[in-house]
Formats: sequence, C-alpha cells, structure tokens
Amino acid sequence: MSYLKEVKRVTTTSLQTMKGAGEKIAMLTCYDYTMAGLLDAAGVDVLLVGDSASNVMAGYETTLPITLDHMIYHAQCVSRGAKRAMVLVDMPFGSYQSDSSIALASAVKIMKETGAHAVKLEGGEEVVESILKITKAGIPVMGHLGLTPQSIHQFGSYGIQGKGEEAANKLIKEAVMLQEAGCFGLVLEKIPAVLAAQVTHALQIPTIGIGAGVGCDGQVLVMQDMLGMNDGFAPKFLRKYASLGEDITRATTAYVQDVKHAQFPSPEESY
Ligand code: KIV
Repeated sequence: MSYLKEVKRVTTTSLQTMKGAGEKIAMLTCYDYTMAGLLDAAGVDVLLVGDSASNVMAGYETTLPITLDHMIYHAQCVSRGAKRAMVLVDMPFGSYQSDSSIALASAVKIMKETGAHAVKLEGGEEVVESILKITKAGIPVMGHLGLTPQSIHQFGSYGIQGKGEEAANKLIKEAVMLQEAGCFGLVLEKIPAVLAAQVTHALQIPTIGIGAGVGCDGQVLVMQDMLGMNDGFAPKFLRKYASLGEDITRATTAYVQDVKHAQFPSPEESY
C-alpha cells in the first residue's frame, strides 16, 4: 500500500553520491527522540549524536565528562526517532584514545546497543590504527580534524586551527591519512575556509564543515545553537534560524501566569 512506502535511509554510499553530484549534505546534532523525528522529517541527512550533549544536554563546560553509556542512551533515543537520516554517534573522550582494541570494543558497543549507523572520533595520525580496526569490523567511521573539542586542554582555547603553512600542511596530510584508513567522511571544525576547500578538493570522501566555510561538501551545527536556544553562544560561524529560547520563555511565562490566576484549565479543557 502506498502509505506504507518505505523511506530510503541515507547511507555512506548516498553521502558519497551526494559529493559526486555536488549536492550539499545537511547534518545537525540531535540527542533525543522527539527532535530526531522533527529534524528527520525536515530533511536533515545526518543526525549526529554529538558529544556536545555533554555541554547542551548535561550542562558540563567541556565534552570530556560525558560517558559511553550516556552517549548510548542519547543514540538509542535518536535512532528510534529517525526514519531517513543516518544516525552518527560520537565516541566520547576516553572510549578510544588508549588503544585500538578498546576503541573497537567501544564502537561495537555503540553499534550493538543503539541501532545507529556509524561512529565519529576525533584526531589525526594518532587514531589511524583505531580507525583501521573499527572499519575492518564493518563499522563506518567519520573523522574529525581542526578544532577537536576533546583536546581543549591541549589547545588552551576554542580558537581557529590550521592557521599558517605548517599547520595547514599537517591538516591536509592527516585528512588524506584518515581517508586512506577507511573513513567515509570527515568533519572539519573551525579552520580557514580556504584550507577547508583545499581539503575538500583533495579528498574523495565528503567533508562536513563547522566554522570552515561554504567550500565543504556539507555543514553541521549544534541543534540548540542553530535554533536559538543558547543565547550566550554566538560565534561568527553560527547562523541562528529561530529564537526558540525566547519562544520557550514567553510560552512558559504565559503558562505560569495562567496557572497562578486560575486561567488554566478552562471548562472546555476539563472533564
Ligand atoms: O559533538 C558535536 O557537536 C560535534 C560537532 C560540533 C561536529 O562534534
């Protein structure tokens, strides 16, 4: 029956085809079932269960405290809500850095317990062995270069990365390494637009930028930032498509007033 027509899932192959066809890839972070359904229906290609959940869902200052089990919980919720989008899960800090067998075990746990389709991890040369091992097990991996927030204490700030010839050459070299290790895509965070375009041109796999200019094959933003729910955060790269923070405060204030003045519920809203 036509109303039961199956929705075609976005896969690593579809993302590769999109790059080939010059069709941009829209990715957003997502951490729960309700939002997953809404973002999926709006045509987002990839829902990233980002470790930014540590900041925007749990209220921590960095992405470091979130655990593998917390990420698995968020990914399970998103997987239940997404019908078309690929569900991509960040491997949290500490779940892959120590050695490649631990990295594989963490990736397998994510895939077994969440219904997600791929994992993402941060870093260059130092994570190549883990990527080789995880992809050999049949798990698609997306890389992440440039500003990698799990290394914030090493960077010392959330400033732009890949500035200057040496840093730019290192980033290009590592991007190629990640592609050769089997990554199906690469996030480029907070690097000069010219460098991101150069990496995008040099790679066969799609690049997804955040603060990396329009030359990437796709873009990603943190959902709460994009929807205007996080007023304190306004970096240059962020475009706010709504003011949900203001809307929520206005609606909630009206609700509180109605309750306080016995204006809610009305007889029509009562049994
Ligand atoms: O966790 C996250 O939100 C991310 C994006 C910023 C790419 O990794």
